[in-house]
Amino acid sequence: MSKVLVVYGTKSGSTAGIAEKIGDTLAATGMTVNIKSAVDKPDPAGYDAVIVGSGVRASNWHGSVKSWVSANADALKGTPTAFFTVGLIMAATPEKADTIRAYTDPLIAETGVTPVAIGLFAGSYEPSKFSMPERLIMKAMKTKEGDFRDFEAVAAWTVETAPLLGLS
Ligand SMILES: Cc1cc2nc3c(=O)[nH]c(=O)nc-3n(C[C@H](O)[C@H](O)[C@H](O)COP(=O)(O)O)c2cc1C
Repeated sequence: MSKVLVVYGTKSGSTAGIAEKIGDTLAATGMTVNIKSAVDKPDPAGYDAVIVGSGVRASNWHGSVKSWVSANADALKGTPTAFFTVGLIMAATPEKADTIRAYTDPLIAETGVTPVAIGLFAGSYEPSKFSMPERLIMKAMKTKEGDFRDFEAVAAWTVETAPLLGLS
């Protein structure tokens, strides 16, 4: 039975929900899945595959996730790994997918960790979950409020990515 680690970084919670959907989708097929925040610094040893993702701020994954990938780069290079990125550009302008996919290019270049796939998912903007400075930035950018997460798209990506990770 395959054992999978799902690691996520979040500041306002939306990416945690997406990580859970990925984990639940795999677990429903009988796999053993652990879902962990990067803040908890999970050990990737002993897993058959790893899926790691983050919400973004200003085109960047959260620092906790970037640090986790860097700290575990050797292990991840020896384990099939997929990335996923959660942002609002995917909600407002999905045609800009290439821009969002490129958010992880510097991390890939720095660490040598090459994902088998990069999932791109719409996130959410619920002002009560954001700090005052963040709300001001969102207001200035006229960001639309709402939860734009598409859990069916997340599940579909998970199903199509599993074989690329060698999972069955
Ligand atoms: C200050 C700030 C900057 C952001 N920058 C981006 C960005 O560059 N690209 C993007 O797609 N979304 C951006 N977002 C939207 C968040 O990525 C989105 O709300 C996401 O759901 C947050 O995930 P999290 O709650 O798991 O951290 C930004 C949000 C804030 C508050």
